[in-house]
Amino acid sequence: MSDRSQSRAAGYEAAPNIALVKYWGMRDAQLVLPNNSSLSMTVGGLRTRTWVRFDRGLGADRLWLNDRLAGDGPLQSATEFLDVVREEAGLREFAEVRSSNNFPIASGLASSASGFAALAGAASRAAGLDLTPRGLSRLARRGSGSASRSIFGGFVEWQAGHRSDGEDCYARPLFPPDHWPELRDLVTIIADAPEKSVRSARAMQDTVRTSPAYAERLRSVPGRLAALRRALRTRNPDQFLELLIQECDDFRRVCETTVPSLDYLTPASRAVLAAVLELNRQAGRPVAGYTHDAGAHVHVFTFAPEVRRVQARLRAVPGVESVRVLSPGPAAHPLPGTGA
Ligand code: PMV
Repeated sequence: MSDRSQSRAAGYEAAPNIALVKYWGMRDAQLVLPNNSSLSMTVGGLRTRTWVRFDRGLGADRLWLNDRLAGDGPLQSATEFLDVVREEAGLREFAEVRSSNNFPIASGLASSASGFAALAGAASRAAGLDLTPRGLSRLARRGSGSASRSIFGGFVEWQAGHRSDGEDCYARPLFPPDHWPELRDLVTIIADAPEKSVRSARAMQDTVRTSPAYAERLRSVPGRLAALRRALRTRNPDQFLELLIQECDDFRRVCETTVPSLDYLTPASRAVLAAVLELNRQAGRPVAGYTHDAGAHVHVFTFAPEVRRVQARLRAVPGVESVRVLSPGPAAHPLPGTGA
């Protein structure tokens, strides 16, 4: 095989991330430029692996998700993203994409973040583009905003930037995965969580147009993000947990006041939030904090000495299927071989 044909196939692995300060609303939907900066933790133990092969013999792009040929919606998103890569690389060939997750997709565990981060890595390498992590973050952003953060491990900030071409809109690592060794994310899987009916990119623009609480959210986010960054840097558990809950409640408020209302939670998710507040009330201090994205599953943060107590409490909530104890995860990285 020539070097050129070898460079047409590549694999990449990426982990999802959970937003501690959410991205919700865009100043440019085409280039995926957000209204506010956001901060996340890359989640270890969950991962997407994606292989891309550009092939002159194909008459269209093909997408396999967890060994099944994907339907029109995901295929169209992948093709639009591959078009960005093809244009940057000056390529015309269609691609076969094989992607697998070790966790449920489209249910609030951020499969689009790890999915597009892995696709950006695999497709850009297969197309012969040699991108820096920052360049990869910019590219992943075009598939799904939150994917810009999954390029990096540990704690990550995606800066909104000011430029209209998006050149200053990328994520950067804040603290490495081992920065706060006691911190744990108890990923609380809700039984019968519905799949998302409206893509986040659409839903958030509905919020921008219709929620009376959105303008106030935009004013409060920069201060909250700075405070959360400080709580992480100084490893201040009480402040970290309190800010996490405040931010999640604010995000939920703008979703619920969107017309039509966006309600991502099930009664079991709401019972999890209530159980966390009750635990903190009983302890007389913050023991745990919660957050969720646009889905029913809940991420409950706590610290190593409290894990057993918090996990037992969450498991007792009717409708909770399982509680996985996870830690900050690694950066996205290439997979060896060609996936053949
Ligand atoms: O990146 P998208 O289009 O899947 O939107 C992500 C939106 C949230 O997950 C709710 C928030 C975030 O910052 O990840």
